[in-house]
Amino acid sequence: MSHGPRMVPQRSVRRQPLFRNTTLDAPYDGAMTAIPAAFRAYVAEKVGDAVERGVREVAETDLPPGEVEIRVLWSSVNYKDGLATRADGKVARISPLIPGIDLAGEVVASADPGIAVGQAVLAHGYELGVSRHGGYAEYERVPAGWVVPLAAGLSPRDAMSIGTAGFTAAMSVVALEERGLTPSDGPVLVTGASGGVGGTALAILADRGYEVWAATGKPDEAERLRALGAAGILARDEVTGDGKPLESERWAGAVDAVGAATLPYVLRTLRIGAAVASSGNAGGAKLETTVFPFILRGVALLGMDSVNMPIHRRRELWDRLATDLRPRDLGVYCTEVTLDTLETALDGIISGAARGRWIVRVGESG
Ligand SMILES: NC(=O)c1ccc[n+]([C@@H]2O[C@H](COP(=O)([O-])OP(=O)(O)OC[C@H]3O[C@@H](n4cnc5c(N)ncnc54)[C@H](OP(=O)(O)O)[C@@H]3O)[C@@H](O)[C@H]2O)c1
Repeated sequence: MSHGPRMVPQRSVRRQPLFRNTTLDAPYDGAMTAIPAAFRAYVAEKVGDAVERGVREVAETDLPPGEVEIRVLWSSVNYKDGLATRADGKVARISPLIPGIDLAGEVVASADPGIAVGQAVLAHGYELGVSRHGGYAEYERVPAGWVVPLAAGLSPRDAMSIGTAGFTAAMSVVALEERGLTPSDGPVLVTGASGGVGGTALAILADRGYEVWAATGKPDEAERLRALGAAGILARDEVTGDGKPLESERWAGAVDAVGAATLPYVLRTLRIGAAVASSGNAGGAKLETTVFPFILRGVALLGMDSVNMPIHRRRELWDRLATDLRPRDLGVYCTEVTLDTLETALDGIISGAARGRWIVRVGESG
């Protein structure tokens, strides 16, 4: 069957066909569709040097192939989503694109025997919201191999309160612990602590008994960060200034999603044998450091890539996010937006205005 653009009845802004086809290897069973012929989605489309953004009505046939159809209830706003809707963002690989690198909802049709209709599931990473339409849509169709069934006790809203950022935080904590970190080793630093990765890492580490220090550029967030479990707060200028190649050994471990000048600070203050889990570049991508932390203190720079994590490991980690890695106060420090009010969150996350996470109420009314 064709997946090319087609006209759909319009009740919103645009009247021309909306999407080019996007293709996947997975066969699509056209008989299974339970997605309405037309539904709402937030779309980003490159027009000249700019990106046009807003809610449009799209057709079921505009969605790419996949074995599982999901009614999206919640999505979230991650730094990458902000980039995917900017002309200079270098994230979107197709245009028009339905952004949203994560989603949670209910299965409405499935050609996979392991995934049942009615099941609560989530999906994130791989190509979602980058080279394939993502979570800012009332319905999505995804390959079965991308689907994570939600563990008991984790609702779709909970899942997106964690979202890709929180998943990456959990991944970072697990990577540090698999390398041997324990609470008795000493203080652990979390940078960009008011943001999605940072705030969730802080909460998980504190719950696991670590003495966690939070670095933030927002002094007025200190109280909230202490409530999340921070034992101490560092101002951003304390973790971004120039320094000697090696400084006093301070941190037994660190979670960093800021990069830029912050990661070099972390490296030169890690204790002998300690590690930092590096996942992001909210402050910038360039890394200028020396080799001394590596060759004189044996510290390790652990790279975190949530996008390509194999599905079996992804499912295991999500199961732990429902149990021993479940962040404290899950869902409390979230600001809800809808497809119609996404814009401020998408812009705010890029400008560093995050205070907790933004979650997107897509399909759930209550
Ligand atoms: N590798 C992966 O798989 C993966 C997965 C998820 C996210 N990431 C990356 O991790 C980074 C953080 O993502 P996120 O969703 O947590 O974003 P976020 O919610 O916006 O958090 C980023 C935080 O970084 C701090 N920050 C420091 N310098 C900044 C600057 N110059 N501009 C903006 N923020 C600055 C801010 O916290 P303070 O004000 O408290 O300092 C900000 O809240 C992004 O680069 C994202 O792409 C990577």
